[in-house]
Amino acid sequence: MNRFLVTGGAGFIGSNLCRALVAEGCFVRVVDNLITGRRRNLEGLWDRIDFVEADMGDPDVAHAAMRDIDVVLHQGAVPSVPRSVDNPAETHAHCVDATFQLLLAARDRQVRRFVYAASSSAYGDSETLPKVETMAPNPRSPYAVAKLTGEYYAQVFAEVFGLETISLRYFNVFGPYQDPTSQYAAAIPAFVTAILQDRPPTVYGDGEQSRDFTYVDNVVRANLLAARAERTHGQVINIACGEKVTVNAIIRLINEIVGKDVAPTYAPARPGDVKHSLADITLAREAIGYEPVVDFREGLIQAIDWYRQNLL
Ligand SMILES: NC(=O)c1ccc[n+]([C@@H]2O[C@H](COP(=O)([O-])OP(=O)(O)OC[C@H]3O[C@@H](n4cnc5c(N)ncnc54)[C@H](O)[C@@H]3O)[C@@H](O)[C@H]2O)c1
Repeated sequence: MNRFLVTGGAGFIGSNLCRALVAEGCFVRVVDNLITGRRRNLEGLWDRIDFVEADMGDPDVAHAAMRDIDVVLHQGAVPSVPRSVDNPAETHAHCVDATFQLLLAARDRQVRRFVYAASSSAYGDSETLPKVETMAPNPRSPYAVAKLTGEYYAQVFAEVFGLETISLRYFNVFGPYQDPTSQYAAAIPAFVTAILQDRPPTVYGDGEQSRDFTYVDNVVRANLLAARAERTHGQVINIACGEKVTVNAIIRLINEIVGKDVAPTYAPARPGDVKHSLADITLAREAIGYEPVVDFREGLIQAIDWYRQNLL
């Protein structure tokens, strides 16, 4: 099982996966249309990967990409709640339609395993914490619906067509190569770069919302475990650290790590955002032997180092 297709491989998580796979000597093909990904995320890997710049949702592209592939790590998506509120049709096309075409192509090419990057946004705003996979989903944004639909398709392709799928519900991933510049930038890259540049970070809401922030190495590890687990049959598994941190606490911690005291500015909460999120990772431990390898504080130190060296 050494021939991998990484969709969205020029993105944040995809490029981290490519680095890990190349380091292990695996064959890696990437399909990316660069809608949110960047070529520079793949720096140093160009002569060691097969890069296809194309829309993975095009049936011909999807079919060709699966040639001689053992495992698909499907990361490609337009992954932002606010962007999906601004442009739900775009989210639907790049998440739902594209995932469906890739599953069809994987089935037809008899790929051995299809690992899907699912999202904790599927849980929505239920009061109960931690979130366990047995809870009823409650998507609150077009993005959450789109990611959940991909999970359902992955499950059905396992049940109906025998394709070995597995969905990893990532919780707020952060780390090197995550874009801080987009207007839809995720919280940690936006906060870290603002504080490093002595600009006040913008917090939406009162900052007391919390998340189970997950350093990207944990997600890479989970994908490798899922790719190599004995047999998969459409399971849905939380991937996180199992720790919850508030947005205000992150701002304090970044300031402490970099030795500054930059205060945030507060803006109204955004539609579609959930208040609290925390994962139960028992199933990940049982099903694929997952254990977080880097905790939040250590991950934040590493991410800050990377932004210092690469983006300032
Ligand atoms: N970052 C997180 O916190 C998080 C949390 C939960 C789930 N996820 C999921 O993880 C995956 C990766 O997210 P990320 O944070 O690395 O985002 P990203 O935007 O950095 O990467 C997504 C990549 O997919 C590519 N892409 C999008 N549509 C495409 C298409 N039609 N054809 C080819 N390429 C296409 C983009 O150009 C980009 O390189 C996504 O599926 C996302 O939904 C991410």
